[in-house]
Amino acid sequence: MKIIESVTEMQAFAREARREGKSIALVPTMGYLHKGHASLMKEGRKRGDILVASIFVNPTQFGPSEDLDSYPRDLARDTAVATGAGVDVIFAPKAGDMYPRGYQTYVNAEELTLPLCGASRPGHFRGVTTVVTKLFNIIKPTVALFGKKDFQQLAVIRHMVADLNMDIEIVGMPIIREDDGLAMSSRNAYLQPEERKNALCLCRALAAARGLFNGGERSAQTLRERVVRLIGEVPGTSIDYADFRNKDTLDAVETADEDTLLALAVRVGKTRLIDNCILGEE
Ligand code: PAJ
Repeated sequence: MKIIESVTEMQAFAREARREGKSIALVPTMGYLHKGHASLMKEGRKRGDILVASIFVNPTQFGPSEDLDSYPRDLARDTAVATGAGVDVIFAPKAGDMYPRGYQTYVNAEELTLPLCGASRPGHFRGVTTVVTKLFNIIKPTVALFGKKDFQQLAVIRHMVADLNMDIEIVGMPIIREDDGLAMSSRNAYLQPEERKNALCLCRALAAARGLFNGGERSAQTLRERVVRLIGEVPGTSIDYADFRNKDTLDAVETADEDTLLALAVRVGKTRLIDNCILGEE
């Protein structure tokens, strides 16, 4: 396994791979890798001749009062996880190489970035679409894999790729969970033991809403009340959003159906966690 830190070196590597007729699969990450990331890598292994994972805590997608500085970092551990998942190249650039002095070009998707995380994290998706575009240009993948854990991010990237005619297949992968149901996340490392237990309210609320839906309830308002009550009962939590939306347009829905997305963002102590489900899926 090779670790490349320089943008020009990564570009040269990708150019050479393409010249040799080899396809590249890319898994973009911010590191502190867990089994969710590994599942994307294992699938990527099957879909490209060369598997590249990027590890870059992207400053442009963090707000001024967010956790850019405290975001967990451990390249030695990440190297072990990536090797185990079949990664050929880790691309781990420095922020100054990705955004040199005078940097001024951004990619911005519009409607899809307005609700949910876009509303509570202004500028977040602009940072994501910008860095993902840069990674695509540097690494020149034929396929890139993203998790449904960040459902809106996946929707935004799919739209950007279509809108800007990027010739890259986007693959969405299922949410990987801990045994007790908590969606895996690098930010779970922030949780104190008591908070770790309280964090289960997200997946429990999703299960409760799905249970009601399967029992015939279709009113998004009634479903939402159940979710809000369940989370509200758990100490130290506050809901950022609990929204029922069309899974393609992310428009709010009043009457839920099998394709309705229930998206949650909840603060547990100081840690902001997200999770989601499609009501008609298991
Ligand atoms: P990061 O949070 O590190 O996530 C990298 C990828 O792993 C994303 O596609 C995310 O959806 C996926 N992922 C995270 N947890 C998962 C889980 N429990 N199950 C399945 N997939 C999971 O998302 C980002 O980084 C950044 O925004 C990035 C796209 C790299 C741009 O900077």
